[in-house]
Amino acid sequence: MFRPEAFVEEAVEQVRREAKGKAILAASGGVDSTVAAVLAGRALGENLLAVYVDTGLMRKDETADVDRTLKEMGVQHRVVDAGAEFMAALKGVEDPERKRHIIGNKFVEIFEREAKPFGATVLVQGTIAPDWIESGGALRDRIKAHHNVAGLPEVMNLTLVEPLRDLYKDEVRKVARALGLRVSERQPFPGPALAVRCLGEVTEEKVDVVRGACAIVEEELEAAAGSGKMTLPWQYFAVLLPIRSVGVHGDVRAYGWTVAVRAVESVDGMSARYSKIPQDVLERISSRITNEMPHVNRVVYDVTNKPPATIEWE
Ligand code: XMP
Repeated sequence: MFRPEAFVEEAVEQVRREAKGKAILAASGGVDSTVAAVLAGRALGENLLAVYVDTGLMRKDETADVDRTLKEMGVQHRVVDAGAEFMAALKGVEDPERKRHIIGNKFVEIFEREAKPFGATVLVQGTIAPDWIESGGALRDRIKAHHNVAGLPEVMNLTLVEPLRDLYKDEVRKVARALGLRVSERQPFPGPALAVRCLGEVTEEKVDVVRGACAIVEEELEAAAGSGKMTLPWQYFAVLLPIRSVGVHGDVRAYGWTVAVRAVESVDGMSARYSKIPQDVLERISSRITNEMPHVNRVVYDVTNKPPATIEWE
């Protein structure tokens, strides 16, 4: 049986042993990296600098939220505004795996830049088991290059320390609860962020649409779950598809974008079943997205399990 308290003790010891001197930590505000930040903070104190990169691809209000969480936890941290850099690097790129590599490389470039003045040679990451299992290797096929594993550059100046490497999501949540973290029940969010929810080329306009649609899906499902109408899915979000379809706005022909709503039940993200959402909740999501996002005239619901699909669309 997994014992979170024993894990915390061992992991703090492991980080202390492996990091030796100063380290920076890749913080995203999610459960994994926040748990890693608390463990590494306990191990290294002032010798740890958590770096949160605002890629410009984050969800609504996310950057302010993460800043607050890290402050609350007393972890020394920095917020790096890198939106313009990420957008420039992704310009014209459509292939999902190339997007993931570019994003992984950019993250490391920024971490290396931040590590220098702090005097760190180590990068602590909240990588968990599914990240490296799905990223493949000698014995496994690559399902997708998780940004923090196969998305990394071949040559790095920082040594990786990954205290959560052997844990699955449900185990990380148990550790987060044992540590009393507010983010323990937060739904997963991929490191490449909204870039993998804008299918095809990422543009600022598309990111704005998918950010708005994701916020609507979150608000409506959280409200429905809060009123007891349904249980909150394991993960729930919107995806902007790279196709346009014909519709009608008022009496006028529209040729607009399509948003897919995705909600799944899972334990560890390795497999998943699509969530059976009440029809009226789906309908509210659909009307809000088409009313509030002027370029979207069609909303579809994804009824595919994993396998054969994956949870994210890229
Ligand atoms: P898939 O889409 O492979 O996702 O079924 C399984 C879980 O992992 C999340 N995900 C990622 N998390 N870096 C991450 O930290 C990534 O590159 C990445 N890609 C997918 C996804 O949101 C789901 O919870």
